[in-house]
Amino acid sequence: MYAGLDPHGGVLINRLVSGQERALWEERTRTAPRIPLSERAMSDVEMIATGGFSPLTGFMNQADYQAVVETMHLPSGLPWSMPITLGVSETLAASLREGMWVRLHSPQGLDVGVMEIQDIYRPDREREAQKVYKTTEMAHPGVQALYEQGPVYLGGPLWVWELPAPPFPQYHLPPAKSRQVFQERGWRTVVGFQTRNPIHRAHEYIQKCALEIVDGLFLHPLVGATKSDDIPADVRMRCYEVVIEHYFPKERVVLGVNPAAMRYAGPREAIFHALVRKNYGCTHFIVGRDHAGVGNYYGTYEAQEIFREFDPQALGITPLFFEHAFYCTRTQSMATSKTSPSRPEERIHLSGTKVRELLRRGEPLPPEFSRPEVAAILMAAMRE
Ligand code: ADX
Repeated sequence: MYAGLDPHGGVLINRLVSGQERALWEERTRTAPRIPLSERAMSDVEMIATGGFSPLTGFMNQADYQAVVETMHLPSGLPWSMPITLGVSETLAASLREGMWVRLHSPQGLDVGVMEIQDIYRPDREREAQKVYKTTEMAHPGVQALYEQGPVYLGGPLWVWELPAPPFPQYHLPPAKSRQVFQERGWRTVVGFQTRNPIHRAHEYIQKCALEIVDGLFLHPLVGATKSDDIPADVRMRCYEVVIEHYFPKERVVLGVNPAAMRYAGPREAIFHALVRKNYGCTHFIVGRDHAGVGNYYGTYEAQEIFREFDPQALGITPLFFEHAFYCTRTQSMATSKTSPSRPEERIHLSGTKVRELLRRGEPLPPEFSRPEVAAILMAAMRE
């Protein structure tokens, strides 16, 4: 039986309040200032509240932030690679003081909870960009999002009473729920798969290689903010459903959505993605080629190499690394250069740009690259 892997830090954080407790918080903060949340900040609030970001109980204070940016660890010594921060404007910051309670106001216009401001600080955003994203170029979507946040950061714990309606209710599996599902399935080992793309055959291949050695696959697509040319989440969800329906034994796969925003931080985000999946109950995590990368900012296997900088015990989730997978015409199967002696011209793989180009022209995707059912959904979405 799946005994339940410990969440990061040992305890699954739950910052949700309801009933009497909620009424108390609402009463106490009736006249408190409001902090507007962007979509991204709202998804961070959800991840913190439901324990996806355990051991974080709120937005980072300066000590946590600095330790994470500089050392990829929290001051407690726990690995943590991405800053989780709440930025506000100078004007708003001028009206706030440490020790104050503020209400968090969602993009949908609701007060979703409260935060105790423990820290107000001005980050060196250029340094943050360079350390976390390895670039200060605004063309990098993660750097752009960083600069779009206000220049003053607020740190402190949260109490949350309202979360956005789940966009895909049947796949809404916050960490406590996904852990329960794995347990019900009787899985002892679970591999997590991060994705922001439809499942193509290379994805399916590495998922199945992993599935040969663990009990179950947690297909965990990210459905929070992505960059504008990524395929929208609702189209991707239909692709995941159809692949599971036709090509996977259903009892070996759980599909759940990850409400977090994509950061495109490559290697740092691979560590972060693994820790988040540990919180969802995974024992293993797939890291393939250019994981969470964008453009040419990171080396193809940098997101794998970074794991060497961490104590595996402290990470507490086992990464499974895969080389670039492709369809090999010589062996007539999916492969990587570890398993096929093929020459480059015997390898069928398409870049994201090439896929978009084919779809735009209304041309079919080759079956060696994409299952026909997935290709059909993508082509239909293109026509909508
Ligand atoms: S990501 O930004 O979420 O990493 P994507 O959805 O394309 O992008 O990738 C999901 C996972 O599959 C990542 O671990 C990535 O490294 C891996 N991956 C994607 N394509 C390939 C491929 N052709 N070969 C090996 N791994 C791949």
